[in-house]
Amino acid sequence: MKALVYHGAGERSWDSVDDPGIVDPTDAVVRIDTSTICGTDLHILKGDVPETTPGTVLGHEAVGTVEQVGAGVTTLQPGDRVLVSCISACGRCRFCKERAYSQCLGGGGWILGHLIDGLQAEYARTPFADSSLHKVPEGLSDEQVLFLADILPTAFEVGVLNGMVGPGDVVAIVGAGPIGLAAVLTAQLLTPSQIVAIDLADSRLRRARQFGADTTINDGREDARARVMELTDGLGADVALEAVGTPQTFELATELIRPGGRVANIGVHGHPATLHLETLWSRNVTITTGLVDTSTIPQLMKLIEQGRLDPTVMATHRFALGDTMTAYDTFADAASTDALKVVLEGSAVAAVAAGDRASATAAG
Ligand SMILES: NC(=O)c1ccc[n+]([C@@H]2O[C@H](COP(=O)([O-])OP(=O)(O)OC[C@H]3O[C@@H](n4cnc5c(N)ncnc54)[C@H](O)[C@@H]3O)[C@@H](O)[C@H]2O)c1
Ligand SMILES: [Zn+2]
Ligand SMILES: [Zn+2]
Repeated sequence: MKALVYHGAGERSWDSVDDPGIVDPTDAVVRIDTSTICGTDLHILKGDVPETTPGTVLGHEAVGTVEQVGAGVTTLQPGDRVLVSCISACGRCRFCKERAYSQCLGGGGWILGHLIDGLQAEYARTPFADSSLHKVPEGLSDEQVLFLADILPTAFEVGVLNGMVGPGDVVAIVGAGPIGLAAVLTAQLLTPSQIVAIDLADSRLRRARQFGADTTINDGREDARARVMELTDGLGADVALEAVGTPQTFELATELIRPGGRVANIGVHGHPATLHLETLWSRNVTITTGLVDTSTIPQLMKLIEQGRLDPTVMATHRFALGDTMTAYDTFADAASTDALKVVLEGSAVAAVAAGDRASATAAG
């Protein structure tokens, strides 16, 4: 089969590799119908994730069709359409029993496209299939559910739920990349009174407004703290979500909240940030961190099914899976391409899309 293979810092190629097969009885082999690229894949390519070894197939988000199941898989069969979560769950360890799948002690957690071969490929071996794959309800397209694999639950669980966003809250979101924008979408499920999005790029802020932000602040040009204080009678936001991953943006998030407010850190940090306890100690604040568990996939899937959540707005570019190399170039150059999420379509999906385009042309 063909797959996107990491070959060490800065090196990737679309290679012929061995077809995956069942290794453990709890495995499934999935044909990848739709996949996508994550900012974390770019981190791996920069060499920031040393545990990912050269030769690993990248990718941890996909929708596919079960091809084969191991003898221990009881709830899935060949032909089932499934969402593959970025987090695998053994389903039996202490943390899986608490639905904290990211902390799985039984061999799960974030392993796909990280510690084992991932999903930017024609086929993939998916461990712990019963507890890590989600059947896709009939009637939902791949693109409608694809972003449930990572960015939607990340923004919802690590941002919105950890930050305990509630009705009437003012929510400040620092960073309007795919994760910050997914937070703009999912924060609305909890009816805040105001969503403030902060970014350095006007194009990202424009999208934030399209996705439901009430106010946007370009903190390259404006004093974000002063603007948020102005909007909140000098008190600060109820909740600030950090969705960038730099010391400055974390520190900014802690300056944006009111006494008793909450900071939910989503960003992945490569450098130490200063925790200003000299100003925070007396302000009754709560700061949370987390790696996504994807425990809310079933909940978010229901909201998509009922039309209350539409993640397809995140898809800005589409490529055939065979053009994954070009898709990476487009995704990595978001400043000029304005890419948010690129959708990689396997041959089955691409054929249907081509058919739709042909009939649209014929009809029009
Ligand atoms: N905790 C988790 O489980 C988890 C899961 C996935 C991703 N992440 C992390 O979430 C973060 C966001 O992910 P993403 O894919 O949206 O990243 P991204 O790099 O695509 O987007 C980051 C955004 O932050 C903006 N930005 C940069 N510096 C800024 C500043 N000083 N002020 C305001 N905005 C600034 C950029 O313009 C960009 O729009 C990353 O650190 C990523 O690694 C965490
Ligand atoms: Zn990811
Ligand atoms: Zn586990």
